[in-house]
Amino acid sequence: MLETLANSLGGVSKYPSTKGELPLREAISKWAMKRFNLDALNPDTEVLPVTGTREALFAITQTLVGEKEQPLVVSPNPFYQIYEGAGILAGADLHFLPCGSETNYKVDYQQVSDETWQRCEVLFVCSPNNPSGSITTLEEYAYLIEKAQAFNFTIVADECYSEIYFGEQAPLGLLEACQQLGHTTYKHCLIFQSLSKRSNLPGLRSGFVAGDATILKPFLLYRTYQGCAMPIHHQDASIAAWNDEEHCH
Ligand SMILES: Cc1ncc(COP(=O)(O)O)c(C=O)c1O
Repeated sequence: MLETLANSLGGVSKYPSTKGELPLREAISKWAMKRFNLDALNPDTEVLPVTGTREALFAITQTLVGEKEQPLVVSPNPFYQIYEGAGILAGADLHFLPCGSETNYKVDYQQVSDETWQRCEVLFVCSPNNPSGSITTLEEYAYLIEKAQAFNFTIVADECYSEIYFGEQAPLGLLEACQQLGHTTYKHCLIFQSLSKRSNLPGLRSGFVAGDATILKPFLLYRTYQGCAMPIHHQDASIAAWNDEEHCH
């Protein structure tokens, strides 16, 4: 990966596009399809490279908040601080769902009222969860996808720790759950993935968002203004990283 990075430094003489080069989106799509057992993930419409999940989690909130009156961003608590800052700066109210020792480190989604779902525009799910490590189950995702469809909000699944696990069984991802539930348009569902933890490349600032194409289209437009295009040599190094599994073991 570092060799690829060094050999691609000539890329600095070009402006990168916000959408990213097709070979990167293809490498991401191939990785995600294999990892999550997906039948399809269109590299043209269902995948976008981002410069780390941190900026992407912030940016998606700015894109999604504002359609509803009195918008709510719903987040686990404890939480990664960006969820809160993103919600506040988007002008939403925050609603926290406890997932500490008092709830055995799990969010109890059944406790969330329909009034809350009604106002919700973004639901942050962090699975595997930082800090608790708990994992969102297929049953929980089935429930959340039903609510997202009924109340028109987006499930923003922060999966940057998905490649760090014990044993053979990799943790379930949101798109994997969609596939298993026959929800293959991924409507209302987005995953946020990163090379920071998987490949120990936090300084590369490289990740991706994948899922609902109807959200990724306006998200791409938003991003052209935000101006977070990934440098071409970082894209080339990222292709090498997504194409290789050995270094993750
Ligand atoms: C839960 C969680 N999400 C997202 C991130 C951001 O990671 P990155 O922007 O490097 O992809 C972190 C970083 O520590 C994190 O702990």
